[in-house]
Amino acid sequence: MTELRPVTEATATRVHLPDAQTVTSVRHYSDRLFAFRVTRPASLRFRSGEFVMIGLMGDNGRPLLRAYSIASPAWDEELEFYSIKVPDGPLTSRLQHIQPGDELILRPKPVGTLVHDALLPGKRLYFFSTGTGFAPFASLLRDPETYEKYDEVIITHTCRTVAELTYGREIVDAVLGDEMLGELIGAENLAKLKYYPTTTREESPKMGRITTLIENGALFADLGVPRLNPETDRAMVCGSLAFNIDLKALLESHGLREGANSEPQEFVVEKAFVGEGI
Ligand code: FAD
Ligand code: A2P
Repeated sequence: MTELRPVTEATATRVHLPDAQTVTSVRHYSDRLFAFRVTRPASLRFRSGEFVMIGLMGDNGRPLLRAYSIASPAWDEELEFYSIKVPDGPLTSRLQHIQPGDELILRPKPVGTLVHDALLPGKRLYFFSTGTGFAPFASLLRDPETYEKYDEVIITHTCRTVAELTYGREIVDAVLGDEMLGELIGAENLAKLKYYPTTTREESPKMGRITTLIENGALFADLGVPRLNPETDRAMVCGSLAFNIDLKALLESHGLREGANSEPQEFVVEKAFVGEGI
């Protein structure tokens, strides 16, 4: 049994829980976003792209848990998470104050549809994300299997502001600069990995919702790739419910079909969160 150290000083008692993990680092990106790393349970096996339940002890003495995509790849010895800060959110109003050495609860039961096994083999893989929906792709982008399976990998990330793109941009830069992954991805303009960040509410080099940029063809023209084709293209989608619904309709209009672990097809979708967003 591991000891769970309370995150707020208000909780004076120490609680014993089987699923406690220790926070090893925390980084804040904005007043809305932060990322943190925790120790990995020795027994935890997961597929890059899956999510787990994590949380803190509630004031009622019961665990307060929420779904979180594991942002680190399956080979990493620690686990990374990328999180929103909801001002009045039951979990994140407290979770945003965690510091190295604090402990949180992690249920070691990974699940999810954003996994390679849920897609039929293809040539080009698209990751379409908004906001914290980048998290599962931060895992998949750092997994060599992604580049072994596909000739080309395209990650799109749409946020309201430029600052909200920072975490994703740093992951992509790290991947491109990584010795082992870099060898699989290739160099500069021939690189297998293409990053397409866009903003909608602040000026940036590329503006607009990705749905609009697919419809008007700008995405394909900018990247020099053909329009979506079910023969060659595969996609994973992670964003708000409205985003997922719109993108699913677009993918289906191009002839791609939604798959699942039990029935692989041309694309898969997962919610980045439940609700309307903040
Ligand atoms: P909640 O009561 O859970 O949410 C309050 C409201 O805040 C929601 O109704 C919604 O309007 C808004 N909200 C919640 N989460 C987000 C978000 N991520 N982005 C924008 N608005 C949001 N959250 C992450 O930050 N990172 C993840 O990797 C992540 N992975 C998830 C995977 C799955 C499959 C699902 C279903 C959810 C995931 N979430 C993720 C959301 C997460 O489970 C919680 O909702 C979030 O941590 C807020 O918890 P809370 O208790 O503070 O507020
Ligand atoms: P917009 O600013 O035009 O709403 P949020 O922070 O609300 O989750 O949104 C994250 C990003 O996703 C924003 O840039 C937002 O654009 C975009 N977005 C939200 N809903 C959709 C949708 N239905 N289709 C495409 N993009 C969307």
